[in-house]
Amino acid sequence: TSAEDLQTLVLTTLDKGGHIHDSKDLTALDGQPLDQLNLLGVLNSLKSRDMVDYDTIDREIWVLTDEGRDLADTGSHEARVFSAVPPGDDGIAIAELQNLLGEAAKIGQGKAFKNRWINKKGTTHLVRTVESIVDQTQVDLREIRDTQTHKDAKVLVELKKRKLVDKRKIISYKITKSSNFSLTIEKQATDITFEMLQTGEWKTASFKKYNFDAVGLAPQGGHLHPLMKVREEFRHIFFEMGFEEMPTNKFVESSFWNFDALFQPQQHPARDSHDTFFLKDPATSDRFPADLAEKVKRTHENGGDTTSTGYNYRWKREEAEKLILRTHTTAVSSYMLYKLAQEEFRPAKYFSIDRVFRNESVDATHLAEFHQVEGVIADRGLTLGDLIGFMDVFFKKMGRGHSPELSDHVLTHHFPYSAGIERIRFKPAYNPYTEPSMEIFSYHPVRGTPLLPLGLKQWVEIGNSGMFRPEMLIPLGLPPDVRVIAWGLGLERPTMIKYGISNIRDLLGHKVNLAMIKDYPICRFDKKMGRELVGVVQ
Ligand code: PHE
Repeated sequence: TSAEDLQTLVLTTLDKGGHIHDSKDLTALDGQPLDQLNLLGVLNSLKSRDMVDYDTIDREIWVLTDEGRDLADTGSHEARVFSAVPPGDDGIAIAELQNLLGEAAKIGQGKAFKNRWINKKGTTHLVRTVESIVDQTQVDLREIRDTQTHKDAKVLVELKKRKLVDKRKIISYKITKSSNFSLTIEKQATDITFEMLQTGEWKTASFKKYNFDAVGLAPQGGHLHPLMKVREEFRHIFFEMGFEEMPTNKFVESSFWNFDALFQPQQHPARDSHDTFFLKDPATSDRFPADLAEKVKRTHENGGDTTSTGYNYRWKREEAEKLILRTHTTAVSSYMLYKLAQEEFRPAKYFSIDRVFRNESVDATHLAEFHQVEGVIADRGLTLGDLIGFMDVFFKKMGRGHSPELSDHVLTHHFPYSAGIERIRFKPAYNPYTEPSMEIFSYHPVRGTPLLPLGLKQWVEIGNSGMFRPEMLIPLGLPPDVRVIAWGLGLERPTMIKYGISNIRDLLGHKVNLAMIKDYPICRFDKKMGRELVGVVQ
């Protein structure tokens, strides 16, 4: 039945009778019962025009299974067994009954015995014990077929056990007229048109109602890579703490800014091609300040204007001119500190989050290209205590995301991971450009992923930090009493933890499935602890 026919049927029936008590009693023009789901579509469309109203009627009915229908037509298994046993004392051999009725013989015998219709003769034969029977099972099945239920609930249970009947839920509708009821359907406009405005037709036209319940189309745009989402969270923390972002938009640096300005000796193993990518064309650049280069040279060779003795080797300009893909964003920090020193000193807080490159063999947790979170604070009188104190505050803000309304109590006690990194530890380390230097470890109270085994109660290295040495700062031109604390963290590791990614190659590089960027939700729910979740919307 077409939607139009259904519509006419509903409207004419309502017109005649005033209401439709139960749509299950409606029959289509072709005499078939109505498909209630099609009817619902028609009812909703009429309801949106205020032509009809309806209530849903839920009912349970009983229907026959295929086998049940078969038995309703031809008789039950037990009746078939009874018919197969001839009257008289000879009866029938059980084996023969089996041949005659197959599967039905087994089920039917049991029931026929129970009904006391047959008995055994010896061990091999069956005989009748009554002259005639009433096939009650067939009677019951026919009653269910015709009335969709049975007056005796026990019968329904019993026949369901025999898989002859089944329960089904059906929905039908009680339909009434509504304020705009009419037999004809007025054509409704969906939009105001230019013509309608011009002719004035809009004043009288009937407009289709908006369906605010319609399920919208999923928006296609605006997907951020998980790394970029976590980067945004970090940027947010930095800006909140008054930092300026450093310009890290060039990946190629001279060795000078990447190594020499950082008091990294020219024979340092990190400057080897095994660790660093060198450019072929152009292979060098001399675009770094000559006066600075001179100071750096003297500092490396003999300590220059510092109290240091330097490294006692001959510094070569050619080595500093070699172009490389920067191995850390500290290359930009050294340049920014040089810029800062060009004017009268003012305290500064800089950060950056960008790519760095290392000639590493790639595996599940290492890439040759990854992101560093870099921070630098320059001020007079800074101490190692400031660095430690800063780290404490900074890491506590991590993971809290955009849920500042959550109290510290909730965060610490229910969402240890989401609360940010609550416990950090420092371990003495060595960098050519910092003294003292500290590796930063964080305590992870929540399980990580199999390949990132951040197990319960485990300390994990998350970064490196320190106070820049005078051998770096004095040549850059900073006043001698200015102290600079700095640190570098990875961006990939926290992202992998937050998004449950166990292989770094699934996150970055040529093996990334681009669809993942679309598939990740825009709201990340951090680790579930207790009953609730902490969500971070970006
Ligand atoms: N550049 C260091 C690294 O790549 C991190 C760091 C930055 C250490 C600043 C100390 C100070 O691991």
